[in-house]
Amino acid sequence: MKVRVIELPLDFGASRRGSDMGPSAIRLAGLKQALADIGHESEESFPGIPVPAQEYLEEGNERYKYLAPIAEACGELAKRVEKAVDDGVFPLVLGGDHSIAIGSLAGLGSAYKKRSKIWGTLWVDAHGDFNTPETTPSGNIHGMSLAAACGYGREELCSLHGNFRKLDPRNVALVGVRDLDTFEKDNMREAGVTVFTMTEVDRLGIAEAARRIISFFRERVDILHVSVDMDAMDPMIAPGVGIPLTGGFSYREVLLLAEELGTSKLLGSAEIVEVNPVLDVRNQTARMAVEIISRLLGGTIY
Ligand code: ARG
Ligand code: MN
Ligand code: MN
Ligand code: MN
Repeated sequence: MKVRVIELPLDFGASRRGSDMGPSAIRLAGLKQALADIGHESEESFPGIPVPAQEYLEEGNERYKYLAPIAEACGELAKRVEKAVDDGVFPLVLGGDHSIAIGSLAGLGSAYKKRSKIWGTLWVDAHGDFNTPETTPSGNIHGMSLAAACGYGREELCSLHGNFRKLDPRNVALVGVRDLDTFEKDNMREAGVTVFTMTEVDRLGIAEAARRIISFFRERVDILHVSVDMDAMDPMIAPGVGIPLTGGFSYREVLLLAEELGTSKLLGSAEIVEVNPVLDVRNQTARMAVEIISRLLGGTIY
């Protein structure tokens, strides 16, 4: 299978800056070789999506900071992701902070709508990213991206790349979650997304949790997108993220989950975000990202 790597080095959807270096760090960690090792040809989406320098932008409204430049870059990302699906290649999106998922999900929503395919998203994250401008504690759009794809939030984001709801929240599951804001929880309950909390993973063990996640999607969708926020991992294995939060996935847990997804034949696209080399130790987080990608794309030990 051919993998098309689509990079969006945008970091102003978050407070802590530096995830704009994520794609470069992931390339440096050996992405191309890792894909070749498991038999995938890869190509880059050239030229890169232009991202303005944050220092020269207006922040705008404090309840949705940098809305206009984020919407613009996400609009371009949506086009490229849709084109990748149209071209029959596997879109692999590298961020950037998690606000870029608005573009990926819009592109996928549009591509699958015209094919009448039912699709879902697994959101691997310590957070819910289900705030709206009304509920956000930070004004950071990376905390609103999943909500926007499900039709909650600013018009500019919800109607990006087509005036329709991109993702049905009933076909969304989150895993790794351990930090939700009070009103964000209300938004999630109203929308009807499914949450596999860290507590449930602890109770069930990762093997059973992975089985349940995969059956959840098998029963509901034709094709699955996985969006991986590296802060779902424990900071021991992924210290280079904007918001490191203790209690995340261990090395073996995340690779098992990724491998089960990779061999499920459900995956149609993937996205890795919030790798922040500024806060990292010897590019450890990007190397972890490459290992996760390799399993997601079907790599196994033997
Ligand atoms: N819930 C917090 C907020 O809305 C944190 C969101 C973190 N999101 C992320 N993609 N790391 O600001
Ligand atoms: Mn920057
Ligand atoms: Mn996130
Ligand atoms: Mn997060």
